[in-house]
Amino acid sequence: VANWHGLIHTYRHYLPVTDRTPIVTLHEGNTPLIPAPAIASEIGRGVQVFVKYDGLNPTGSFKDRGMTMAITKAKEAGAKAVICASTGNTSAAAAAYARRGGMRAYVLIPDGYVALGKLAQALLYGAEVLSIKGNFDRALEIVREVSENYPVTLVNSVNPYRLEGQKTAAFEVVDVLGDAPDWLCIPVGNAGNISAYWMGFCEYHQEGRCSHLPKMMGFQAAGAAPLVSGEKVTHPETLATAIRIGNPANWQRAIAVQEASRGEFNAVTDDEIMTAYRKLAAHEGIFCEPASAASVAGLLKHKEKVPAGAKVVCVLTGNGLKDPDSAIKFSENNFRQGVEPHLEIVAQMMGF
Ligand code: F0G
Repeated sequence: VANWHGLIHTYRHYLPVTDRTPIVTLHEGNTPLIPAPAIASEIGRGVQVFVKYDGLNPTGSFKDRGMTMAITKAKEAGAKAVICASTGNTSAAAAAYARRGGMRAYVLIPDGYVALGKLAQALLYGAEVLSIKGNFDRALEIVREVSENYPVTLVNSVNPYRLEGQKTAAFEVVDVLGDAPDWLCIPVGNAGNISAYWMGFCEYHQEGRCSHLPKMMGFQAAGAAPLVSGEKVTHPETLATAIRIGNPANWQRAIAVQEASRGEFNAVTDDEIMTAYRKLAAHEGIFCEPASAASVAGLLKHKEKVPAGAKVVCVLTGNGLKDPDSAIKFSENNFRQGVEPHLEIVAQMMGF
């Protein structure tokens, strides 16, 4: 799209804004839908695979879509401060958009479980960061209570404007593909994003912009898969820290999406996630964060179920640069340090 000014500008007729709404934007959205031929060939049978690379948003994750709307509406309502609990990405996006809109941002994160890049962002954008001795679920309980008792707007995905903004990702997918995909594979934590995509597809379908609706395939990390087991997880554990969530805030919505789309929730192990993570980078040249790779891990795990010739979109929710520690840890074998600086030694090590 030429002259892209952000997703509110482009999709304003689908969003709860007026001419007087003070739009807070970093020109988020319009992220590429990239073919993934290596993943597709692993599935075969003429299946086409695309990744929606939302890691290319201004703060490096899909949260920017929700945050441009949530912060815009907070500003319109006269808010002076916003608050969220976060596994990292929401805090980075909340901090950036709040500051852009002239508001303070307060964020609660779980001690020791936020990837380095996300923490760096929240701090530099100027949020007040509190790292709690507890997990994300506990942090969300606290910020909900704070927002009910003090003059501060909650911007987690229980804020309805978040989902309004995030539904535009589905619009973009349809705008590029010319129709809805047959399957949408997506990582699931709080289940806000899967709910938002579904809203987007349904709205476009009602307008006749797509001929059908996709099967929504949500994937959770095996150690944090309450929507798969049907029970809260008290001590969620996974290397994909972004989706280390045991009690999703949008649980009911998620079940409704699954039923309406005849979709599924399934679990993928950390090994499967990290294998997909490496494959995306090493075979497709696409660097996402571990949680994002759950969508591709899930697709590969369930490849037998994909109809021949189907079009599949996997959502890559966050940029790989968010979590440099995971990248280095899982590529140690490729990294020879302390090599003597001599031509012959270097050439020999390269196998020449
Ligand atoms: N992928 C990434 C990279 C995320 O950061 C998140 C959620 C998800 C997937 C799951 O999305 O919650 O809408 O189902 N991150 C939140 C955060 C919890 O605080 O940044 P969801």
